[in-house]
This record gives sequence, structure tokens and C-alpha cells, in this order.
Amino acid sequence: MSDSIKVRLLVVDDEQSIRKLCMTIGTSLGYTCSEAESAEAAVSRIEQDAPDLILTDLKLPTQSGVELLRQAKALFPHVEIAIMTGHGSIESAVDAMKLGAYDYIEKPFRVEKMRLLLQRMAEKVRLVTENEFLRERVNTEDNLDGIIGASANIQDVLRMISRLKDTRTPVLVSGESGTGKELVARAIHFRGAMAQTPFVAVDCGSLVPTLMESEMFGYEKGAFTGAMKSKAGLFQAANGGTIFLDEIGELPLEMQAKLLRVLQEREVRPVGSNESHSVDVRVIAATNRDLETAYREGTFRKDLYFRLNVVTVHLPSLRERRSDIPVLVHHFLNRYAPGTNLHVTPAAMKSLLQYEWPGNVRELENCVARAITLGDRQVIDVSDLPPAIRAEGGGAPQTTFSDGSSLSTTALAEMERMTILKVFEQANGDKALAGRMLGISRATLYRKLKRYNIAIRSNGESTPVASQT
Ligand SMILES: Nc1ncnc2c1ncn2[C@@H]1O[C@H](COP(=O)(O)OP(=O)(O)OP(=O)(O)O)[C@@H](O)[C@H]1O
Ligand SMILES: [Mg+2]
Repeated sequence: MSDSIKVRLLVVDDEQSIRKLCMTIGTSLGYTCSEAESAEAAVSRIEQDAPDLILTDLKLPTQSGVELLRQAKALFPHVEIAIMTGHGSIESAVDAMKLGAYDYIEKPFRVEKMRLLLQRMAEKVRLVTENEFLRERVNTEDNLDGIIGASANIQDVLRMISRLKDTRTPVLVSGESGTGKELVARAIHFRGAMAQTPFVAVDCGSLVPTLMESEMFGYEKGAFTGAMKSKAGLFQAANGGTIFLDEIGELPLEMQAKLLRVLQEREVRPVGSNESHSVDVRVIAATNRDLETAYREGTFRKDLYFRLNVVTVHLPSLRERRSDIPVLVHHFLNRYAPGTNLHVTPAAMKSLLQYEWPGNVRELENCVARAITLGDRQVIDVSDLPPAIRAEGGGAPQTTFSDGSSLSTTALAEMERMTILKVFEQANGDKALAGRMLGISRATLYRKLKRYNIAIRSNGESTPVASQT
């Protein structure tokens, strides 16, 4: 592990003074520290921060530190955990060690003793990870449609898929760009009883309204110039199966009204025709926009929103499920360099674990594919990663206080903004290139630029107008 990569420490204790003390010690050692006051809060922090070290109190409000240890080890087998105990709980501390705790320390402790403990743990992490990632690639067992991930978040999604696959219930799949919305839509269709029926995908953001209407609902011969013969639309093509309305938030209002009518009446009337055809389709829509806000602001029809959103499947961002990063990396290695013995160095894996991934799984996939092309076909090292990802581990030690969730979302938004700015700089203001580096579509990039008030000057320089967050 290169020295530039920071050790991440998570401190779990319901007592604020203890947390602050441990974090101060950690920060003085150059570690990036975060805190949690309960086991529940700790689990979500673990998913977000992928810590190397955890220091937890034995007695937490609802769950014990031992239970937390079990959960943390399941998420990140390499994490090292030390237990802090009060008087008379040595026995449980010994139990914890049997379950894989690194050590325990009795409260109150001397600062120097804690410093030494943390340093010993960090050294162990360094040795273990160095060997671990050099080991043979794990055999990532692909399931049918390759939805990879063992995190609790993604397991929830998989459970939803199996519950929905044999129903005709309309589903709204939400999530940031590149989180796997289309993958999930396809899984709902192809894993179920309707797998043999048509699956038709429509990109609602891609066509002008007039073309969109004839594309979706078909047209009659002579309906417009160039309509030499009548043509059935996508809804008819999907009859009996599933229609996937991708980027539904981009659908112009005028088309929203037409779509709503089709869904209510279960029939389509091709452009220029007096005749309707009945259609029976299950609708899966996807959006990376917050449709609830959109309908409140009047850019999305409320009635259509409720019609589509009978069930929502929300896809977590990759930074909310960092424990899936190693297995996804191996999945993409197997896909893009099958049969090779290519592996990822510990330092590179660490950078991948720490990066913010604004473009989510798609960005990770592009990153692995790029590294395979650039690399020497033996190992993927930090130097094979895009500069933005490489840089992530290097900054000054930062300390996250988890006093309120709004704080962490703000921090994430800020990090995303910084990442975009950084990538823009590297891409010399070339939007297409920046989009590719971030692994997000142009439309998404424009939305993000707007959201973060980043103005691109004609000379290619990017300027943050003001931080919104
Ligand atoms: N859990 C996952 N396991 C394996 N591959 C995944 C997973 N999630 C996403 N991918 C891969 O990431 C890429 C992006 O996924 P997908 O196109 O489904 O995302 P999306 O949410 O529809 O993105 P966008 O909003 O940009 O259209 C695809 O190549 C997909 O195979
Ligand atoms: Mg998509």
C-alpha cells in the first residue's frame, strides 16, 4: 500500500467525549476519521466509508459491539476491529477476540496506549491487504443477468425483483446515473414468467415530441410527409410483454398526457388514424430525476407519476455500498480480460474503494476496462487509474462528523462537485471527454453541471458559479 493512501478509522461509541478523543488521536496519526453513536449508524457509515479500522464500544445502545463486529466483518473481511470495554466486561471482550476482534482496550485508557493500538492495527491491515488482493481472482459467480453485489442495499433490490417478476404491477426504477436501472428493468422482465414475451425499451429523452408520438404509438399511411405506409408503434410491439420507459423524467409534458391516456384506456391510436388498437403491456419506467420534486414544480404530471409509481425500486449509489466494489471489479476483470490472471494491486484497490464514483457502476466498469487496456496485463496499479480516482486517497486528512445526515449528503454533493471540476480540468473543458471519464451520459453531465452551478466558459475553463449546497 503506498504511503499516500490514508488509513480510515471509524469510532463507534455512544459517548461523545470518547468519540472525540479517539478521533483526535486518529487524526494526529494522519488517519481519516469518522464516527457513529450506534451500531445502526455504524453499519451505514461502514458501507459509505469502507474503513480499515474500527474502534467500538462494547456496550452500545441497542446492539453490542460484538454484534457490530460480526456485521462489519461480513461486509469487509479485512477490517480490523478493537473493542473498548468498561469495568468488568473483560469476558465479553475475550469472546469478541474469538470472533476476530484484533484486541480490546479498557476504559479509561491512556492516549499513548490507544495510539500504539491503532498503529499496530494499521500495520496489520497493511500486511493483510497487501497479500489479499494479490491472491488469485475470486470467481464471481454470475447470476442470470449479472446483477453483482452482496451489500444489504443490493440484496434488497434483488428481493424486490423476485417479488415483482411475475406480476403486471407498474414499477418505477429510480437511482443515479449508472446505478443499474436498465439492468434491473431487464431482470424483472427476463427472470419472470413473461420472459418469452417482448421487452421493448424506449428512451424518452432521445426524440422530439412529434417523432416520439409516432415512434411510441405508430402512424397511419399519409399521416405526415414521408409516411409511405402505416407502421405500428413501440407499444404495439411490446403487446403482451413489457415496455421500458427509460428516462421518463425527460418526457415532454405534451407526451406525458398522451402516455397517460394510453395507460388508462389500454389502447393506442396511431398518428393520423381514427382507429384504436388495444394493448396489454406492463410498464417499467426509470428515472434519475426526483419525479416527486418534478411534479411539485409542475414539470411532471402528478397523475402520471402516481400511475407509474405503484412500486418503486430504488438503486443505491455505489458510494452507499462500497463493500460491493471489490466484487464488481473482479466481475468486470472477468468480463473484459477473461482467462487472464490480471489482478489489482492493494493500493489500486484502495483508491477504487475510496473514490466517490459520481458515475456509479458504469464509471467503475469504464475504469476497469480502461485500466485493462492501459495496463501491462499482469497487474492493475494506481498508475493505470484515471487521475481523478488516483487523487482521491491523497488529500489532507479529513474528519467526518456524523451528527446529522444532511451534513453527509452535503459533503457528498460537495465531493461530487469537486470531482466534476477536477475531471473537467483534466479534460480541458471537453464535455464529451469529461462525460466519458466520469462514465455518465451527456444529458446527465449537463444536469449535474446545472445542479452544481458549474459554468463552462468557451475557452474550456470551468468555473463554479456558487456552491448550491
Ligand atoms: N449491480 C451490478 N452488477 C453488475 N453490473 C452492473 C451493476 N449495476 C450496473 N452494472 C453495469 O453498469 C452499467 C450501467 O448500468 P445501467 O445501464 O443499467 O445503468 P442506468 O442506471 O440505466 O444508467 P443511466 O441512468 O446512465 O442510464 C451497465 O454496463 C451494467 O451492466
Ligand atoms: Mg439507463
